[in-house]
Amino acid sequence: MQKTFTLRNFEPSDLEQVMQINRLCLPENYTSFFFLDLYQKYPLTFIVAEEKNKIAGYIMCRIEVGLPNLGRLGLTRKGHVVSIAVLPQYRRKGIGQALMVQALKNMEKYKAKECFLEVRVSNTPAINLYKKLGFTVVRTIHSYYVDGEDAYVMARKLPLETFWENKLFES
Ligand code: ACO
Ligand code: ZN
Repeated sequence: MQKTFTLRNFEPSDLEQVMQINRLCLPENYTSFFFLDLYQKYPLTFIVAEEKNKIAGYIMCRIEVGLPNLGRLGLTRKGHVVSIAVLPQYRRKGIGQALMVQALKNMEKYKAKECFLEVRVSNTPAINLYKKLGFTVVRTIHSYYVDGEDAYVMARKLPLETFWENKLFES
């Protein structure tokens, strides 16, 4: 399939579009301060996908230090995918996967040893995306979301296999 989008780092002038995508695609919404704070602290893992000068999707992450989810001892630097979304009309073209691969790659620049995220247990498209990229469910958080739904915590070790990186440059 021909690739129709490009990836680049988020810029503050993208804020309105990104917040609009977030509101359209997810019930978890945030203040503009929250978005800009993640951008200021972790600019390399706040990435947008663009198609014909329109933003089609975004991913934003945080780097945290804490107990590992996967097979390590002591404290570990972890990349946390805070939010990812692709507008409905741009889905199923590989944009979500490309955003994830680029963010995982850039987490390595922040010396993260693993990546984790929370996802609604009913969110099959997202769960499939994460599984395809090598994430496994490490635990379930009961009633994590405000509406009472449970979350899976999913995680994978870093670095990412170069296989995925190469996929980014295929057309
Ligand atoms: N049904 C089943 N599997 C799916 C679906 C679907 N509708 N959509 C994606 N997948 C899986 C497939 O394994 C797919 O690989 P394939 O096409 O080779 O079968 C893989 O994900 C990659 O698909 P992409 O085309 O790269 O994903 P897309 O660009 O459509 O974006 C996303 C996926 C981000 C989950 C999108 O559906 C979306 O924005 N959903 C609403 C917002 C959301 O749920 N975000 C995640 C919340 S959790 C969090 O943010 C940490
Ligand atoms: Zn989270």
